[in-house]
Amino acid sequence: MAQTQHLVVLISGRGSNMEALLQAARQRQWAARWGAQVVAVISNQPQAAGLHVAAQHGVATQVVDHRAFASRQAFDAALAQAIDAYQPTLVLLAGFMRVLGPAFVAHYQGRLLNIHPSLLPAFAGLNTHQRALDAGCQVAGASVHWVDEGLDSGAIVAQAVVPVLPADDAHTLGQRVLAAEHRLYPRAVERVLVAGL
Ligand code: GRF
Repeated sequence: MAQTQHLVVLISGRGSNMEALLQAARQRQWAARWGAQVVAVISNQPQAAGLHVAAQHGVATQVVDHRAFASRQAFDAALAQAIDAYQPTLVLLAGFMRVLGPAFVAHYQGRLLNIHPSLLPAFAGLNTHQRALDAGCQVAGASVHWVDEGLDSGAIVAQAVVPVLPADDAHTLGQRVLAAEHRLYPRAVERVLVAGL
């Protein structure tokens, strides 16, 4: 078996994508197949519900509260220090709602993935579902991409498409996209693990 590959997941809230990753890791035997395991879940929000979910799965959790730092750079440096203690081969952003600065992004170049709830390059940024509805899109979806210095602009690893239905509002469309995200993110991580890092 290849050497152990440590995965660190960053969250800010609910953590349903993080949970989908934990479930896939167990059910699809990432440890046996690629020596890969989620070793830590780190949140910038002390109240993030996902921290409890991670703990229930027996995964180490940590908070790096961005409000405790005077600058974005200081927060990024503290976050990187917390992450690097786990010697990660991959860092997975899963609903992590802070923009990360260029030094952080450069430090994790080729190791940092994000999931975004739109079919990039369409609808980078926030309010993706309402914007897709307003544009009259007939399909919507989600993208897993490498993180670069831009906003949701890095190379796309995998995408999932869902239909937009006539009665949709942002909530119903968001629910459909989120279910697709839960299938997509583990699949994208597996694709990266198969390709080797
Ligand atoms: C997801 O839609 C993700 O694509 C976006 O934020 C949401 C996080 O949801 N970046 P969860 O915390 O994974 O449940």
